[in-house]
Formats: sequence, structure tokens, C-alpha cells
Amino acid sequence: MNNEKIQQATEHFAQILQAELARIDKMKNSEGFVDYSTLPTITIGIVGGDGIGPFIADQTQKILETLLADALKTDRIRLKVVEGLTIENRIAKMQAIPDEVLAELQECDVILKGPTTTPRRGDDMPNIESANVSMRRAFDLFANVRPVKIPQDNIDWVFFRENTEGEYILGSQGVDVTEDLAIDFKAITTQGVERIVRAAFEYAKQNGRKRVTVVTKANVIKTTDGKFLKIAQEIAKEYPGISCDDWYIDIMAAKLIDPSRRSEFEVLVMPNLYGDILTDQAAQLQGGVGTAGSANIGTKHAMFEAIHGSAPRMVDEGRAQYADPSSLVRAAVMMLEHIGFKTEAKNLDMALDICGQYEKKFVLTSRANGVTNDQYTDYILDTLADPNIEAKWLSYTQK
Ligand code: IPM
Ligand code: MG
Repeated sequence: MNNEKIQQATEHFAQILQAELARIDKMKNSEGFVDYSTLPTITIGIVGGDGIGPFIADQTQKILETLLADALKTDRIRLKVVEGLTIENRIAKMQAIPDEVLAELQECDVILKGPTTTPRRGDDMPNIESANVSMRRAFDLFANVRPVKIPQDNIDWVFFRENTEGEYILGSQGVDVTEDLAIDFKAITTQGVERIVRAAFEYAKQNGRKRVTVVTKANVIKTTDGKFLKIAQEIAKEYPGISCDDWYIDIMAAKLIDPSRRSEFEVLVMPNLYGDILTDQAAQLQGGVGTAGSANIGTKHAMFEAIHGSAPRMVDEGRAQYADPSSLVRAAVMMLEHIGFKTEAKNLDMALDICGQYEKKFVLTSRANGVTNDQYTDYILDTLADPNIEAKWLSYTQK
């Protein structure tokens, strides 16, 4: 009996190896990064998602329509609302991303995405794979870039989380070998590590950062994390002006909340799951996961999203109109930056700082004792319309 089960699991494992080796070949043949300045039209897909997603996506769209009014008129930019990435439709089709939605997403150069619901084991829903994870994989969005800034504590971190491998790539392909034995897989590839580590160092180089910190658990997870660390240290040699240090994930988590050390870190790079955990922790330090944006970058496509979930409870309790759109708007800042609309990105970033951190004329509390997200968006738009926005922002940040 056991032999048969071992045989089945072994066959399953062989299929995984085939698929992973094929993926490596694809990575080897992948093209360089698209240059958005050469595209006649940049298509931005807007995906509402689930729960509060459509509410905050509407607000973000409104801001983009104002900010990009000229580019929209000349067709330099096109906004394309993509429907159907909802838990209801995904369950109806039994697909993490239904085919027709995927086809529409494929037509977009960049995607702005609200949160999507991920069913868990034991939920009252079929166990469909996370739409996030599927999209990252479908478009090979290997770099998950998550900045966290706390100016008053001198914190300015940028996390480069590997986004397509590690514990996630085979997340739904683990095996229950017998009733008592469950096995999951973690896969790390040379190509996968090289591209994320290089992305982190290139970012550091282009943004005058002097330090890249590699986070693993290579003392215990010796093969995969060991490979990650070894390759990272090799690549670091190509960047003599940037120092490279390495930490294990446990002590790294401690150092991020150590007030005497944490502001020393600048750019951090790590495998998928560690990045998932550490970036939530970091976002919480900044004021909550609702305040952080997240970029998922590949060579051909890129997707920008809020890092929080879909908060279905807020919708059930009739509070969706009070949901904070800031995280998705921050994601829009990263998107504008990524496609080369630097001035618009900078202005929107300053407006978010002024409204959310400094001036706080209107405050969202996610309940009726705060403003609605409509009112908050108007506040952001009013702040953006001020020709002296930079002077205003400087007056706060240089205090
Ligand atoms: C994130 C989220 C996702 C992840 C979930 C929704 C699958 O937590 O973007 O960090 O784990 O990557
Ligand atoms: Mg997460």
C-alpha cells in the first residue's frame, strides 16, 4: 500500500521537475525589459477585484483620469477596465484567472489591481488558487517591490521580494503522500535568483543607495536558501560601490523593530515567503498594510496592487464606502513611475503624504465617523490641484 503511494508521489514529483526545468528554459530565453517610451500607447488595465476592491479601484481610476487627462486625450495612455476577476466568476469557471479575463489582461501593458479573495482550506468555497499568485506566474512578474518609508524615524526601505519561486511556485502542488504525511515543495533556480538580486542591486545603483541586505534562512534551509545566498554574494561583486550584508530571517524580523538599528537598512532582497512576511511587518510599522503599495514587475508586463486583502466584512457591514484607497493609490504612484510618468508620480506621492500623514484635513477611519472614500479622493484631487504642492510638502517634511 505504502509502495503504491510512494510511487504516485514520485510520479507527481517527476512532473514537477519537468515543469520547473521547462520554466528555466523559458527564463533563459526571456527578452529584456520593455521600454515604455517607445510604445505609442500604454494600456493600463484596471481590475476591481473583490470586496472593497472595486470601491477603491474606482477612486484610484478617478485620480488617474484627472492626473493623466492630457495623455488620455492624445491616446498616449489608455485606461481599460477589466471585469470578471471576481471570486464569483472564478468559482463559476473554476479557474484562478478565467481565460477571457486573462486574454484581456494580456492586452494591457500594466495592470492596477484591487485585492482579490483567496479561498482557504476549510472555507465554504472551492479551493481555487490565489489570483495574485496566478497572475504573477502567468506574466512572470518576478520582482515584488515594496517600499516602506517612515520619515520621522529615518526609515526608507525598499524590499525586493522574489515573486515567482520559493514556497509559492508549487504552492498548490504539494502532496498528501499518505493520510499522515504531507509534503510541500520549495524551488529556487539560478535564473530566478539572478534576476531578483540584480533587480535589487540595479535599483540601489540607480537610486544612490549604498547597501543591499540579503535575507534567507541558509543555515537551515541549506539547499535552496543556500543557493540564493551564494548567488547573491557573487552578484554583489559586480557592484563595488554598494555593500552587501546577509541576515537570517528571524534576526532580520527582530532588527526591523530595533529602533537603534533599523534605519541602517536600505534595499533588502529575499525569497518569496520571507518577503511576504517581512513586508507586512514593515508596512505595519509604517501605519498599517493599508498604507503600502506593491509593484510586481516582469520584463513585459507589470502589475501594481494594494498589499491588503479584500476585507469582505466591510462590504457585508455596509462600510465599503469608508475603505481607504491609499494603498492602491500608492500602487498607482509606483505604476506611473514605472511607465515613465515621473512628475505625475511625484505629485501624487506628495499629495498622499500631505493628506494621509501631515495635513490630515479629512481622515478615513473605515467607519461613519470618518469621511467616505469619495470625499477623501476629492481631498487628494484638491491637494494635487494646488500649484504649490511641492512647497507645501517640503514645509511638512523639512520640519
Ligand atoms: C501578498 C499577499 C499574497 C501573497 C496572498 C494574497 C496570496 O499576502 O501579496 O503579500 O502571499 O503573496
Ligand atoms: Mg502578503
